[in-house]
Amino acid sequence: MLVFLAIFVPLNIVLAALYILQSKIKHFTAYFTIAVVVGAIATALSLFHYRTIFDQGIHGALEYNADECRWAGRNIPFIDLLPNGAQNFWAGLMYCKREQQDIHAVIDQNGELHVKCGISDSGIVVDVLPETREWPLRDKDYWTKLNKLVIKRTIRLPYNHTSPFTLNDTTQAVVVRCGTSSTIVSRVSPSISKLPLYTPPPESDTRIHNVGKIFNGSSSSEYANQKPPNVIYLMLDAVSRRHFHRKLPQSVRALRTLQYLKYNHLTELYRYHSVGFSTDNNTKAAYLGEIFPKQRNTLPIWAHFRDRGFVTARIESGCDDWTKGCNGDNYEHQDFAVSNRTLDYELIAPFCQPEFYPDVGNAFGNFKGPYSIIARCLFGRYVHDWAFDYLYKLRRELRPHKNEATSVKNRPYMITATFFEGHEGTGEVIRTLDSALAAFLEDMRDS
Ligand SMILES: *[C@@H]1O[C@H](CO)[C@@H](O)[C@H](O)[C@H]1NC(C)=O
Ligand SMILES: *[C@@H]1O[C@H](CO)[C@@H](O)[C@H](O)[C@H]1NC(C)=O
Ligand SMILES: *[C@@H]1O[C@H](CO)[C@@H](O)[C@H](O)[C@H]1NC(C)=O
Ligand SMILES: *[C@@H]1O[C@H](CO)[C@@H](O)[C@H](O)[C@H]1NC(C)=O
Ligand SMILES: *[C@@H]1O[C@H](CO)[C@@H](O)[C@H](O)[C@H]1NC(C)=O
Repeated sequence: MLVFLAIFVPLNIVLAALYILQSKIKHFTAYFTIAVVVGAIATALSLFHYRTIFDQGIHGALEYNADECRWAGRNIPFIDLLPNGAQNFWAGLMYCKREQQDIHAVIDQNGELHVKCGISDSGIVVDVLPETREWPLRDKDYWTKLNKLVIKRTIRLPYNHTSPFTLNDTTQAVVVRCGTSSTIVSRVSPSISKLPLYTPPPESDTRIHNVGKIFNGSSSSEYANQKPPNVIYLMLDAVSRRHFHRKLPQSVRALRTLQYLKYNHLTELYRYHSVGFSTDNNTKAAYLGEIFPKQRNTLPIWAHFRDRGFVTARIESGCDDWTKGCNGDNYEHQDFAVSNRTLDYELIAPFCQPEFYPDVGNAFGNFKGPYSIIARCLFGRYVHDWAFDYLYKLRRELRPHKNEATSVKNRPYMITATFFEGHEGTGEVIRTLDSALAAFLEDMRDS
């Protein structure tokens, strides 16, 4: 129905306009024909241009296995002709409206929350978001209950300046509500200095099964002492390589600056990451190393890192749990908490807030929620901005601190963060991620 309206209403307006113009203007048919011819030439030239750049990646040319990866069909990239916004300008806002109240809220070193927002204490409440990391698989099914359980297990407490508001150690985030405005305050807790080196249970120790040389070691501390590189996976759901170039120009520019630095290597996977219904297959390959796990209870890759002394963390900005969603059936016990076994930190709960993720009706519609065709907003900012907040905090917390003598500070880390802006029908929303992603890449490059 929407598609029908989007095509036929404008088409009929154009036809009516042509009819009126023809009856009003002399020689209109001749002018019109010239305009059509000029338009057709311009379109053909543009298409030719887009065809030539289609295969040109960040290095400016198709690289790596050119024979294998070259597109074998007749490629006419019509989509490149559409200006930004052409496919969803009618749908709604592509930016987030600021909240009315300016809220200044921080959690200090002692876990105390401090809020200033210019109204009396009686107007302030704090929603303490639950720690999802310890939840068993059965509680993390995003089709039926993950968001609802987050809401149910949120504790709402009054806030005032007379007594200190101290958070529990496992709390990663709270929502501070001040009058009609709200904000999210997150922190990485417990702090890295209080995090013990993880000892995997013998029955699921991933070091016993060899997954190649890099994953082979005798003890967690041995790996930690070798100081392997830190690892960050940023997963952009449902975005092809070419669409990344098309809609995320600032990020592409930031990536391009990386290739000139000494220790960087940039690889683009031509045609391997084209969009199809391949999320399960692609992410299983990435996170499990196999599409069809040969064994039951296969642990995702963050377990392999954690078992070897890495600090592991995951951000799921779509109120989702990858392990449950894509590999949940592989586990014998739905009581098993995969995240508790495999991650030191997890942030999901802020992205399950009903202001973004509908708690009644269809959560996956076109105008609200994690798959919507308009800007994904939460409390006046893009949803991904809250995810990046925590990502920056993780990096700051886990970065080696030279002044402090604690050796735990020097453990390597492995972080995954998932973004769903590409998961929608118009291909436009991913644009909203560009400046934040570019800023993050530049921050990593310069740090
Ligand atoms: C989480 O893991 C810790 C340490 O491995 C364990 O002591 C605790 O019981 C686990 N919690 C849950 C809910 O599984
Ligand atoms: C302030 O809040 C605390 C709980 O957070 C409560 O125990 C206390 O009575 C409150 N004080 C006032 C003056 O409202
Ligand atoms: C801390 O945890 C206890 C027990 O789970 C809970 O009753 C209390 O409300 C929590 N406090 C805060 C500030 O989250
Ligand atoms: C892993 O280490 C063990 C002993 O240190 C060795 O026997 C084994 O061959 C190694 N496996 C791989 C894949 O390197
Ligand atoms: C996943 O991969 C398998 C094996 O490569 C293939 O048979 C299957 O069609 C793929 N699934 C989808 C949804 O593409």
